[in-house]
Amino acid sequence: MNLEGRVAIVTGGGRGIGKAICLALATHGANIVVADINLASAEETAQEIQVLGRQGLPVKVDVSDRAMVQAMVQQGVDRFGHIDILVNNAAICSLTPFEEITDQAWARTLAVNLTGPFIVSQEVVKVMKQRGWGRIISISSVAGKMGSVRSDAGYSAAKGGLIALTLCLARQYARYGITANVIAPGTVETELNRDWPEEAMRDLLLRTPLGRLGRPNEIAAAVVFLASEEASFITGEVLDVNGGFLMD
Ligand SMILES: NC(=O)c1ccc[n+]([C@@H]2O[C@H](COP(=O)([O-])OP(=O)(O)OC[C@H]3O[C@@H](n4cnc5c(N)ncnc54)[C@H](O)[C@@H]3O)[C@@H](O)[C@H]2O)c1
Repeated sequence: MNLEGRVAIVTGGGRGIGKAICLALATHGANIVVADINLASAEETAQEIQVLGRQGLPVKVDVSDRAMVQAMVQQGVDRFGHIDILVNNAAICSLTPFEEITDQAWARTLAVNLTGPFIVSQEVVKVMKQRGWGRIISISSVAGKMGSVRSDAGYSAAKGGLIALTLCLARQYARYGITANVIAPGTVETELNRDWPEEAMRDLLLRTPLGRLGRPNEIAAAVVFLASEEASFITGEVLDVNGGFLMD
């Protein structure tokens, strides 16, 4: 799968799954705008992209902030001329029990995990339309399809909404040569769940037929495929990458 000449924006590209996605896309030839609220981590990812012989542009952005997103997209266009691939990956997650979720925490989770992808997608499709080609890949979760076993209800609600948002993009932008697909990972070993209680992790493993957690590069491999020319007739798909945790 050859992504040479392609330019990708990866939100939350500073660490975890987002970082693995940046490195995998760069390995296949793409240049990357590494967009993260944590600039230092975005800079580290960008340096690793340079080592692979591709260009990485680190940009500090809060995906829920329209002005910051507009500036990030403009920086990408100024540097690379166009944007071909958008990966909506940035998200936050807590384990707060349902009755303890505050209005403020609920609003922030929805702002980052759902309004963020809305804002970034809206700004990026304007650029993609100009060239009549684009790939939008949104990282949802099994929690968005079946409710969460551990994470808070706002996370699941946002991830379910992200699936619906991406399906709307698939329907409304197919005519511009833009596809939009979702990846729904099961539990993947990252800093997001590093501090989860041991019995919670054991329970998740027991429910996963492949008997282990996912690895960030296994999500990244699915992103590379959906971003490639080989996936040209796939749009509106929700691709499970979950070790068999959910089979539907
Ligand atoms: N790790 C898992 O088990 C798992 C399972 C299913 C889905 N996912 C999804 O995969 C994606 C990546 O998860 P991860 O485990 O790598 O998480 P992570 O917490 O390790 O990384 C998230 C990244 O997003 C950035 N970020 C957070 N808020 C931001 C904001 N407002 N604007 C811009 N950047 C922001 C963080 O700085 C961080 O670099 C998320 O969408 C997550 O919901 C993860």
